[in-house]
Amino acid sequence: MSEADGSRFAPLLPTGPIHFPRDFAWGVASSAFQAEGGDVPNDWVDAARAGRVPPNPGNGFWERAEADLRLVASLGFRHYRLSVEWSRVAPERGRFDEGALDRYRAICDAANAAGVTPWVNLFHFTHPRWFAARGGFLEAANHADFLRYVERVGRALAPHARHFHVANESMVYMLTGYLMGVNPPFVQDAASAFAMTRHVLALHADAYRILKSMQPQPTVATIEVYLDARPENPDDALQCDAAQRFDAWYHGVLLEALATGWINAPTREPEEVPHLRGALDAYGFNYYNATSFGAAGAGSWSDLADPPVDAMNRKVFPRGLEDGLVRVAQALPGVPLLVTENGVPTTDETFRIRYVASHLAALDRARQRGADVRGYFHWTLVDNYEWNFGFGPERFGLVGFDPATQERSVKASGRWLADVIRSGLLDPTRIP
Ligand code: FCB
Repeated sequence: MSEADGSRFAPLLPTGPIHFPRDFAWGVASSAFQAEGGDVPNDWVDAARAGRVPPNPGNGFWERAEADLRLVASLGFRHYRLSVEWSRVAPERGRFDEGALDRYRAICDAANAAGVTPWVNLFHFTHPRWFAARGGFLEAANHADFLRYVERVGRALAPHARHFHVANESMVYMLTGYLMGVNPPFVQDAASAFAMTRHVLALHADAYRILKSMQPQPTVATIEVYLDARPENPDDALQCDAAQRFDAWYHGVLLEALATGWINAPTREPEEVPHLRGALDAYGFNYYNATSFGAAGAGSWSDLADPPVDAMNRKVFPRGLEDGLVRVAQALPGVPLLVTENGVPTTDETFRIRYVASHLAALDRARQRGADVRGYFHWTLVDNYEWNFGFGPERFGLVGFDPATQERSVKASGRWLADVIRSGLLDPTRIP
């Protein structure tokens, strides 16, 4: 990291020691397709074949999960977020692959044996090929297929995992796949995007009920990324309006719907979603950077004149995490919060440590402002496939790997965070 980057971080870093409660949940987060990769029958593999997204050889998790989970434990983490690759479990419509279910059972058992609690997420952006071909979630007639999968995996894994998530960032899935058209199925259509908002909320409510009927009964949490929408220039009325309109749809609708069961979108008739109200045992809060609305459209924002910028050209803005946690806590009183993802694409370990330190400081400020934040899951353990960016310099791992041997090597940030976890203390003098 250059000297310039060092001074850019200075205003964002903690100045005094931060103590974390003994029962604070430290975890790492991952997703099935990003870590497992491979030639699975899903829509991302098809998009890669068509040259629309990079190919994904994976980082070897599918084969090496047991060793990776021991590594998780050795770094002091006690929680691990994984997801199930739907196309492995249901390679064809109506057929469940017992071998794949056994493998996910074994992965959960390996976590438990290592003293690591598995958190199982059922949908993280990929659809089986057959489901995508039938029109995905946009076709209400397909919803039963997803719910059958939820029921089957819930039954298989509930004896092995106490915590579930229905979906990761379904609002981002809707935005990138149906409004921006950058991810499969590459649709750019506001009406479809709005319909998807309703569909993913209804699917969450239905899947929540199914999972809560399992024995033993698991906890079921949502996961959404917080997109801290701000105008680049607060004096520009058009930019303010764009940021506000985005926020009203994205967080406004989402938080109100979870709290009340009603989708109350600007310019639409209010609509009640059956069983949605209160259908969450915890709120999973992912956060990376702020989202700006400026002259050039949406981008990344900071109130610093010269902020740190990551390898995906996003400005580092920890205050968005702080303000977002406080806002969600106020919108959903009584619901515990977990930071279910936070991390940074970089090949520079000093940058990563400073990024994490500044966001843990923001998390602590949110707790002091009353947000009931129970844990922090770092994204991610081992470098993995970053969707449209593939395996470039956009490395999020605390651990690297050799693509030829798949051998793991803990990075400086992994050792640093392990030290924070072990001591329960973020000591500003130990930030490089
Ligand atoms: C999140 C996604 C996750 C990963 C990180 C960097 O929005 O949930 O899959 O790609 O970004």
